[in-house]
Amino acid sequence: MKTTLAVFSIGLILTMTACNQKAKSDSETTLPTTAFQEQFRPQYHFTPPAHWMNDPNGLVYNQGVYHLFYQYYPEDIVWGPMHWGHAVSKDLIHWEHKPIALYPDKNGYIFSGSAVVDKQNSSGFGTIENPPLVAIFTYHNDAKEKAGGNDFQTQGIAYSLDNGDTWTVYDKNPVIDNHEIRDFRDPKVFWHEESKQWILTLVAGDHARFYASNNLKDWKHLSDFGKDIGAHGGVWECPDLFKLKVEGTNEEKWVLFISINPGAPLGGSGTQYFVGNFDGKTFTTDQKDLKWIDYGTDNYAGVTFNNTPDGKRIFIGWMSNWLYAQKTPTEVWRSAMTLPRELSLAKVGSQYVLKSKAVEQLESLAVNHIEEASAKLPKTVDGEIVSQAEISFDAPNATLKLVFSNAENDSLQLSYDAKTKTFSIDRTSSGLVDFDENFSKEIHQIKVHNIQRAPLNFKIYTDQSSIEIFINDGIYAFTEIVFPKKPFNKLQIFGEENKEMKNFSVNKINTIW
Ligand code: FRU
Repeated sequence: MKTTLAVFSIGLILTMTACNQKAKSDSETTLPTTAFQEQFRPQYHFTPPAHWMNDPNGLVYNQGVYHLFYQYYPEDIVWGPMHWGHAVSKDLIHWEHKPIALYPDKNGYIFSGSAVVDKQNSSGFGTIENPPLVAIFTYHNDAKEKAGGNDFQTQGIAYSLDNGDTWTVYDKNPVIDNHEIRDFRDPKVFWHEESKQWILTLVAGDHARFYASNNLKDWKHLSDFGKDIGAHGGVWECPDLFKLKVEGTNEEKWVLFISINPGAPLGGSGTQYFVGNFDGKTFTTDQKDLKWIDYGTDNYAGVTFNNTPDGKRIFIGWMSNWLYAQKTPTEVWRSAMTLPRELSLAKVGSQYVLKSKAVEQLESLAVNHIEEASAKLPKTVDGEIVSQAEISFDAPNATLKLVFSNAENDSLQLSYDAKTKTFSIDRTSSGLVDFDENFSKEIHQIKVHNIQRAPLNFKIYTDQSSIEIFINDGIYAFTEIVFPKKPFNKLQIFGEENKEMKNFSVNKINTIW
């Protein structure tokens, strides 16, 4: 169902420049307004005011703000001709909604991509004093796709000289043309200091391709990666490539993200990663097994910010799954982003493993509610707080079960089986589940072999329609969406007899709206 929303003019007439496409109509320069209080509306996760959103795009920090662009269809709550929606934040937590940044043009819809601060003005779009923000994205040409060729996805660029408020599309687009590959998209660009050039990673169906450029306009194909490695149950999408230091050492490794749809461990969409080396031309890895950044069902197409002020590697993912994304039971907007997460790399035995945790800025929203150095099991937490909380504790390496519930008999159950090292999430009775058969077909079970440390630390974030679980400093992350008929207002934690939790705390997370 499509809901009519009150709209107000945000008083911002988008500046038209010579290269910009058609003038925008009135409705295109307005943003819908909402109190952000509808049923299921996340209270501290990013959502657009209204309509359809998928992947995060163009994550970049510039002049005091983090930019979040996103795949956006402003006419409906299902996927359609893609635009880049836009929001900015000073702290990654509170977001200000901005007008749409990029509109479909004669080259096609604006699919996923990235943004960089061109500090040296290598593109010539700005000046050294006012360096341009440059967006690099995929054009998807619907007419050409329908004509049946393989030439409908190309890469284009656009730039902004006012920190993202207005954009000019490059008049010589596309900058990477394509005539033979059906799925050829999602460019992620960064400045590679070692070889002093821009590196672009994109995906081409079943592999990633690397390109280099000195000016963001002329790109040279360097190498390919991945045809014979990793998961291939679906199309490769949304790559990212970056360097991380291995915790507690001076060793540096390169991490390559590849989203894949379908083909994730629990079905549908998921994001795998490879740890290896990148020498400015080629990415190589010794990794044999499959690794996933998140083992839940709802963290897809995630990528990281360029140019963060503190050098931290910050990630945001789309909190949904293409299996059922277009049918979830919201009416005004559809889909949310994951919490922004700080990534790090650890060595567990001989393996490199990615870790993630909610950014520390989130603590500014947290209000302490319960704090107990030790808490006997079973333990019950009652009240509204349960649906909007950070729950943290150290659990014995023993069987554990957490049940979130409400008076409607909805329940979401998390369990850890210490004997089989299996973590499971059961959302089969969690509220509205029958909008798509794939949503609650089975209990989600994940083997957690890398858990080598006891006690187990759990950090759990609940919002109105999501749960994010991090075990042992985020060596495992699980993200899932849920639609309880009423917000969960009871949490029971069960364990083995005589066992207790340590450092049990529950913080209420305040709303950002
Ligand atoms: C991933 C994706 C991208 C594409 C975009 C289109 O979810 O399929 O590969 O660029 O969404 O909206």
